[in-house]
Amino acid sequence: MKKPKFSGNIPSHVAIVMDGNGRWANARGLTRVEGHRAGETALMDVIEGAIAAGVKYLTVFAFSTENWKRSPDEVKFLMNYNREVLLRRRDQLNQWNVKIRWVGTRPKLWPSVIDQLVAAEKLTKNNTGLVFTMCVNYGGRGEIIEAINQMLVDKDQGKLPAKITDKTVQKYLLTKDLPDVDLFIRSSGEQRISNFLLWQSAYAEFVFMDVLWPDFNREHLWSALSEYSKRNRRFGKAEDKPKGR
Ligand code: IPE
Ligand code: IPE
Ligand code: MG
Repeated sequence: MKKPKFSGNIPSHVAIVMDGNGRWANARGLTRVEGHRAGETALMDVIEGAIAAGVKYLTVFAFSTENWKRSPDEVKFLMNYNREVLLRRRDQLNQWNVKIRWVGTRPKLWPSVIDQLVAAEKLTKNNTGLVFTMCVNYGGRGEIIEAINQMLVDKDQGKLPAKITDKTVQKYLLTKDLPDVDLFIRSSGEQRISNFLLWQSAYAEFVFMDVLWPDFNREHLWSALSEYSKRNRRFGKAEDKPKGR
């Protein structure tokens, strides 16, 4: 497998908003769903590129809780498509020692999609390589609200500690097994979070890339990794270094 050429700090957890499929297709005189179809190769290339670079956790936004607002045809396509991609690609991912995880919520999500997500998780559960999380029917605010509601239930049953800390909240999130996001990438040129991993990205580095998702490949990922390695993450701390002294 080809390795990235740069050296430096590799982020442990990379999150990607795979955006721009519709625009990619429409610019070519194609319908939006053709753009989604073209995004599959990009995703596989990026997963391979993440493994080659030594990324430990890759989390991608595949379908948001807001995406139900799209046309019934596009929603139907995306449901079928997510199911089919998992079926088509899970053996390859399994061979790459990838551990597939689903993060998202059940309401509205097609049971056949949930079945495929769960089957892929089961198939790859003992793998020790890249943890690849697919966020399907996911929304960051919904995740936090659900966590609060669950805490209320546990409080009634006396199962909640007297003081809620960062760690308590983390335990109630859908991503409880994942570390915080180090690098947050969005393709397509849009510069917004769109309700992705709100809690988890509190101190993430953001890289917005002017490339539509179907055109995205491992080289783009590596260029974002290279940008990340030049960033100075301070987490609120400061260093006093007057120039020339
Ligand atoms: C991202 O591409 C894929 C999903 C949201 C499922 P879009 O479909 O949002 O493409 P644009 O942003 O409209 O070009
Ligand atoms: C975010 O992209 C969701 C996914 C990539 C799955 P959107 O295209 O739905 O976000 P907005 O509507 O441009 O904010
Ligand atoms: Mg979009």
